[in-house]
Amino acid sequence: MTRLHLSLLASVALCFSASVAHSQVPEANYDEAKIPAFTLPDPLVNSDGTRVTTAEEWKTKRRPELLRLFAEQMYGKLPKCELPVEVTRVEEGKVFDGKAIRREVDLTVKKGDKSLTMTLLLYIPECDEPVPAFVGLNFAGNHTISDDPGISLNPNWMRPTKEKGVEKNRATEAARGTSSSRWPVEMVLDRGYALGTMYYGDIDPDFDDGFKNGIHAFCDKPAADEWGSIAAWAWGLSRILDYLETDKQIDATRVAVLGHSRLGKTSLWAGAADERFGLVISNDSGCGGAALNKRVIGESVHRINTVFPHWFCDNFVAYNSNEGALTFDQHELIALIAPRPVYVASASEDTWADPKGEYLSCYYADPVYRLLGTAGLGEGKPSPEPPAVDQPRSSGVIGYHNRTGKHDITKYDWEQYLHFADRNLK
Ligand code: GCU
Repeated sequence: MTRLHLSLLASVALCFSASVAHSQVPEANYDEAKIPAFTLPDPLVNSDGTRVTTAEEWKTKRRPELLRLFAEQMYGKLPKCELPVEVTRVEEGKVFDGKAIRREVDLTVKKGDKSLTMTLLLYIPECDEPVPAFVGLNFAGNHTISDDPGISLNPNWMRPTKEKGVEKNRATEAARGTSSSRWPVEMVLDRGYALGTMYYGDIDPDFDDGFKNGIHAFCDKPAADEWGSIAAWAWGLSRILDYLETDKQIDATRVAVLGHSRLGKTSLWAGAADERFGLVISNDSGCGGAALNKRVIGESVHRINTVFPHWFCDNFVAYNSNEGALTFDQHELIALIAPRPVYVASASEDTWADPKGEYLSCYYADPVYRLLGTAGLGEGKPSPEPPAVDQPRSSGVIGYHNRTGKHDITKYDWEQYLHFADRNLK
């Protein structure tokens, strides 16, 4: 390392500590007893103080009002600029001893001299009828989800992760199949579902670059209430769904959108904003996803806005160490999905994501699901107590489990999602 590198590093470190010190992110709290007193907004009370008493009023008044709040204050609205998407490549082949088709579809945005290609990888089980599908973004390229050698190696910028065959921010052949534990492709196909995925960095690379790359670069630098990266990734999920609506082998009215961690935050926002998704799944999404902000336990709004300043819109910074000022919370994000089925999953060791807060969001969304004529968290009066670990509560249209173990998406999680989809998506 040269002197120049060292001094650059030192100044980066200085800037970093200065900005952290400046914004004074408090130490994370992990103690239930230290949660500040708070009142959650009632999803069934309009901002003018009147009560929502009918499904019609929810649909025409309260839901649009809440959707607007989340868009303007948290994830950011879509920009007004046009973003035309064309299919520019379709390639396919038989896989897994002929039991499925692998299809790669390039979705390209072209505008002036700019062009951005996002590659959808789709596995479809052999079937005479259109099939339902699971769709989710991946962290490190389509080629990591399976060791199927026919998947194109992603050429785009990747986060540096030594173990995953990434060198100088680019994928190498060694990366193939390295995320396969998170994507049980054949298990999904054997259950009669197609599986679609796309690298999230195809849509917007996951670093703070002042909106100069990815899809953000196609529009002016956003206003304070316009999209951050999570909203951009969610936009990409909707473009996948646009394509699936044209694919005769897919039943696009039965598409489950799923995501893990930051991509779980993304699947929730995609499912809330785009009512065409038939089922929404959040795996360990935590802060900015299913966990209640006002509990301020584990990751906080202040911490997430400081470390990932590009994820949300600029207006969200106003709530740093100021959750009391929020006139909405994440149970209302779940409620925006109603009456469509939603599944939230936590992991017992993932205290950073606040498993209890993730369950409580489901619990407090339940009245909206009931007003819309569904069984919510299941028959009978729902309990504010989360179920024990590895005891899914999923007899209604809001499903929840807390798996033993770490922050991850595992075969156990997928088994619950498939079971839930079998009941709710078919
Ligand atoms: C960090 C971040 C979380 C996020 C996670 C992930 O831990 O603080 O909010 O969910 O990364 O996406 O892996």
